[in-house]
Amino acid sequence: MIMEYTNNSCRPIHILFVGAGAVGCFYASRLHHPASNIHVSLVCRSNYSIIAKSGVTLKTHTFGDYQFKPAAVYSSISDAATSKEAPAEGWDYVVVTIKALPDVTDDSMDIEPLIKRAPTGKTCILLIQNGVGVEEPHRARFPSNPLISAVTIISAEQISQGVVRQNRWTRISMGTYSDGLGGKTWEAKQLNERGNQCVKELVHLFTEYGKLRDAEFYDEISNQHVRWHKICINASMNPSAVLSGGIGNADMVMDPELRMHLKGCMDEVFKAAPAILGTPFPEKLAKPDLILTSSERNKGGRPSMLIDWEAGRPMELEVILGNPVRIARRHGVEMPRLQSLYALLKSAQGRRDAEKASKKVLEQEALKVKSTL
Ligand SMILES: NC(=O)c1ccc[n+]([C@@H]2O[C@H](COP(=O)([O-])OP(=O)(O)OC[C@H]3O[C@@H](n4cnc5c(N)ncnc54)[C@H](OP(=O)(O)O)[C@@H]3O)[C@@H](O)[C@H]2O)c1
Ligand SMILES: *[C@@H]1O[C@H](CO)[C@@H](O)[C@H](O)[C@H]1NC(C)=O
Ligand SMILES: *[C@@H]1O[C@H](CO)[C@@H](O)[C@H](O)[C@H]1NC(C)=O
Repeated sequence: MIMEYTNNSCRPIHILFVGAGAVGCFYASRLHHPASNIHVSLVCRSNYSIIAKSGVTLKTHTFGDYQFKPAAVYSSISDAATSKEAPAEGWDYVVVTIKALPDVTDDSMDIEPLIKRAPTGKTCILLIQNGVGVEEPHRARFPSNPLISAVTIISAEQISQGVVRQNRWTRISMGTYSDGLGGKTWEAKQLNERGNQCVKELVHLFTEYGKLRDAEFYDEISNQHVRWHKICINASMNPSAVLSGGIGNADMVMDPELRMHLKGCMDEVFKAAPAILGTPFPEKLAKPDLILTSSERNKGGRPSMLIDWEAGRPMELEVILGNPVRIARRHGVEMPRLQSLYALLKSAQGRRDAEKASKKVLEQEALKVKSTL
């Protein structure tokens, strides 16, 4: 990719990460470089007190072990938005690294007070989230802000309070989002160009200061190709891992019926994505047969959707399955296999949550009865 970036890094760069989970803490720690006037802060939630007190401990495969002391640590979004210590002119970048759960929370509404701290249109929003269609609510709510979405290939987890382990990989692929189509109108074209500048700056910061070797610039359409290609894997493998009774990737592809099913799912995305984006997938992106073959080696590979399911947590079902099905439908393309997976898994999740809720009510009733005896 072409990359010309003019370094005017004498100005301070203020970056705020919302969501101090595994992914957020890892990438935040790579960008923080106060000596070069790059100041990274965190909005935490459940582990606020420990991170505020001692920062984050990183145990990484790529960079060894180190401590990350953010410029500031906030206990909530409103804490950050109203803090006297926060930059008076707002943040240059607000980075969203919470799980994408549009059926549970509206991230764009939640971060609004952070974006409003800066002059209109100043803050660049970076989404580091899985799935497709994650950009649309932000684009609608913040029509004049540069917006970037990133796909990461990383394996990272929070192993205890304030301790994040990166097991392998660091790749972060970024591209701007104006109208999703590369900037068709005059306004969208301006946004697209500003967004590209931000992507170039981020690639520079991640590479120069973060020492990442695979922080990548993509133009708007190519970035959507990358996102849809990742969906091709995640929308097929993850729900199937749950619905097949908890089978990992390698075992699924070794089962002939399941392999046929997975191939069918992947083919649907391979047909739909080019129709939606108006250009074919680049040749270099792996085809379904190759993805299936390389999954044979992924022993022990358990998608995070399966882990969330087993832990009784909400799954990233809407951005990985619901949005692809709906966006394709909007373009006149049906993806029947994915639609079936979506309908079944959404229903299973609804049942699970309803049972959990009624169990809780029964427990509370029992407690009440006990206390009146
Ligand atoms: N982990 C990986 O290896 C990996 C790899 C590739 C892509 N991804 C993608 O990256 C994204 C983030 O994943 P993750 O694994 O980092 O998730 P995670 O560990 O669950 O982190 C999410 C964090 O966001 C916090 N959070 C949620 N809502 C918040 C709010 N309103 N205010 C403040 N904090 C909030 C959570 O806090 P609480 O603890 O209080 O809930 C949690 O710390 C997902 O889209 C995922 O699919 C992850
Ligand atoms: C907080 O710590 C607990 C216990 O270590 C962990 O299970 C949870 O995922 C952590 N949450 C965050 C926000 O890191
Ligand atoms: C997406 O697929 C990759 C590769 O199988 C996996 O590591 C990751 O956990 C999946 N993401 C989700 C949300 O399940």
